[in-house]
Amino acid sequence: MFPYVVLISSLVASAAAHATFQELWINGVDHGGSCVRLPLSNSPVTDVTSDDLACNVNASPSPGTCTVNAGDTLTVEMHQQPASRSCATQAIGGDHYGPINVYMAKVANASTAVGSAAAWFKIDEMGLPSSNPDYWATEVLNDNCGHFDVKIPTEIEPGDYLLRAEVIALHVASTVGGAQFYMSCYQLHVDGGGSATPATVSIPGTYNAEDPGILINIYTQLNTYDIPGPTPYNLPSPTVATTAWPTTATWNTASQPTADPTNDP
Ligand SMILES: *[C@@H]1O[C@H](CO)[C@@H](O)[C@H](O)[C@H]1NC(C)=O
Repeated sequence: MFPYVVLISSLVASAAAHATFQELWINGVDHGGSCVRLPLSNSPVTDVTSDDLACNVNASPSPGTCTVNAGDTLTVEMHQQPASRSCATQAIGGDHYGPINVYMAKVANASTAVGSAAAWFKIDEMGLPSSNPDYWATEVLNDNCGHFDVKIPTEIEPGDYLLRAEVIALHVASTVGGAQFYMSCYQLHVDGGGSATPATVSIPGTYNAEDPGILINIYTQLNTYDIPGPTPYNLPSPTVATTAWPTTATWNTASQPTADPTNDP
């Protein structure tokens, strides 16, 4: 009886700890889920060679595409359950520690683009912001009600893009295939900008199951962490602070989700 109970409760705990990037803010305005390709479930992708690694498993195109300007600040928002934006629940629980990556890909049409066929560049990343103690990007996400800010590069060409937000959970990553990838793609149209065409990678393709940031035992003092994938376009790689990371929220907590977010056609 006892082992049975333990098994069931650990299954419930791990299912409840899964999570989804599901909302988007543009310059502090809540656009809810109006341009996300919402994944069918909050379960992770674990095969780095699968086409599902691009935009999750059979996520349908969104009816909406969000129009943004180059240089805008976008906030991607993650929660454990699609129907809940409560800040009382960790964005991603269950000790699912790991980095955050945000990529973009220029596409002909954001509604119809296939993520696994797109050419991606990274626009931001956060791995281990502090080593005193080791403190992960996902903990910063949890301190901030699932909110993570990224800036659309000012120099990129106008047009349609997919934006791909990802958490890699490393709690069982010390065996090959253990790392858990949680990603959603958002449909964007970017106005303004310039003519820059950042160097790109394929997804799947840019990650290897044995990359040092993917096959890793995190239950030891790390001090450094090799964030998987390319370095972000026009941003320095983040440093690891040797002072404790502040656990207070840095997002504007006055900006609560609206009952009726701005909808995007
Ligand atoms: C993008 O594709 C959708 C769906 O096929 C279509 O309705 C829309 O007109 C296309 N947009 C552009 C700018 O071509």
